[in-house]
Amino acid sequence: MFITFEGIDGCGKSTQARMLQERIVTHFQSSVPQEVLFVRDPGNTAVSEAIRAIVLDKSHNSMTSRTELLLYAAARAQLVDTCIRPALERGAIVISDRFIDSTTAYQGFGRALNLADIQAANMLATSGIMPDCTFFLHIPLQEAKTRCSEKTADRIESAGDAFFERVIQGYTQLARDFPERVKMLNAAQNVDALHEEIWGIIENLRIMR
Ligand code: TMP
Repeated sequence: MFITFEGIDGCGKSTQARMLQERIVTHFQSSVPQEVLFVRDPGNTAVSEAIRAIVLDKSHNSMTSRTELLLYAAARAQLVDTCIRPALERGAIVISDRFIDSTTAYQGFGRALNLADIQAANMLATSGIMPDCTFFLHIPLQEAKTRCSEKTADRIESAGDAFFERVIQGYTQLARDFPERVKMLNAAQNVDALHEEIWGIIENLRIMR
């Protein structure tokens, strides 16, 4: 079982991903213990974390959108090959903070790269591994910005309001195109209420019975 969390910076997905991980572990405690692997994309492996540092570094302001796409794809390939695929093969539940839909939303819609190229890059990076369930945590841009205001913006976070409105549009389109997989939830609501909504969806998945 492969679960991913998506949304713009400041939507609260990392908090929700962690809460879900803890809930699943507790859920299985009384029966057969279940391995739950938490990863972040880009990241988790030494190679992917190094690529993450390059792609988010604000001093790389000359980076082209195509280079950006390929760096995210390279970081993901390493993450899939060394963490995600092996974990899924041993029967673990994998929760990823971001995955392919980030590339479609940020590089496809945000940077306006050709969507067929995005699909090809995603396919190369994942070799076909797809999330079973994706939570898109939707929040208005202004509210996300208030939540992020304390920290210094990285290269992507500095891309501007029009960019992030296109990213939100991209995610909304993905939720419309793949309603079975991509669940669009209201992330402006209370953290615990949102967690309960997510848990309700997870409980309905066959693997949790
Ligand atoms: P994070 O801070 O949520 O971990 O994500 C890192 C940043 O990278 C975030 O601004 C979203 C961006 N990103 C992309 O632009 N494309 C991608 O494919 C991924 C995975 C992340």
